[in-house]
Amino acid sequence: MSGTTEPDSPERRAHVAGAEGAVLRADNLIAGYLPGVNILNGADFYCQPGELVGIIGPNGAGKSTLLKALFGLVKIHTGQVTLKGEAITNKRADQLVAQGIGFVPQTNNVFPSLTIEENLEMGCYQAPKTFQDRFDFVTDLFPTLGTRRKQRAGSLSGGERQMVAMGRALMMDPSVLLLDEPSAGLSPVMQDEVFVQTRKINQAGVSVVMVEQNARRCLQICDRGYVLDQGRSAYTGTGRSLADDPKVIELYLGTLGKQAS
Ligand SMILES: Nc1ncnc2c1ncn2[C@@H]1O[C@H](COP(=O)(O)OP(=O)(O)OP(=O)(O)O)[C@@H](O)[C@H]1O
Ligand SMILES: [Mg+2]
Repeated sequence: MSGTTEPDSPERRAHVAGAEGAVLRADNLIAGYLPGVNILNGADFYCQPGELVGIIGPNGAGKSTLLKALFGLVKIHTGQVTLKGEAITNKRADQLVAQGIGFVPQTNNVFPSLTIEENLEMGCYQAPKTFQDRFDFVTDLFPTLGTRRKQRAGSLSGGERQMVAMGRALMMDPSVLLLDEPSAGLSPVMQDEVFVQTRKINQAGVSVVMVEQNARRCLQICDRGYVLDQGRSAYTGTGRSLADDPKVIELYLGTLGKQAS
């Protein structure tokens, strides 16, 4: 999200240069829910294979809208999204799942009346024959999901549910996983656990895009980050460079930014 719709600005040029070979890429997205009301205002974004990319920004900045636009849930008026070089702008979410995007929404992301195992089955309903392989992969990453496979998701703690939701999205072997505020609403200990899990997923070879309200923690673990403000990027850079940037600290990290990392 270069923060500009100018075709030849330094931000746009940096985006174009960096986005070469990206697994997921968005160029100059203008999108919104209602006619005439744009929420994304020229957002540029990319995620390279194997990267863990964080997106932070104030409430209402359009972070969830960006993820939903990438996943075909919000109408894109202008701009293009590509997955592994192929145009996917405004494709349906179920098609995008088949093509390699996993998405974990912030809320209502498990089926509470189904067991863990059934939730994971739902994750690969488009490719049921792959269930055992993918179940083994997911339970290798998160052994708890295997040992408690018969437990209903509704009876799990918030952190455990988040694990089920991420596991479900991994069942289709996605090239890129989109996570919307996975640590929201969890206790500090469970929040920490979610960041560890996210890193684990990424280290297992999955490219990850993570929207987070826990900005400092997110910037600590991500390779690269975007600060989204008013539907475009205010700042972008490595996680560390953003966490150390006085402007980012002042405007987006607040007093938290002054704490030791
Ligand atoms: N379904 C919707 N219909 C209309 N407007 C919406 C809808 N969802 C979100 N918006 C609006 O879009 C803007 C951006 O919302 P979005 O949820 O993308 O922000 P966000 O950065 O994810 O914020 P938060 O940190 O609070 O999750 C807000 O002004 C919001 O009111
Ligand atoms: Mg949101």
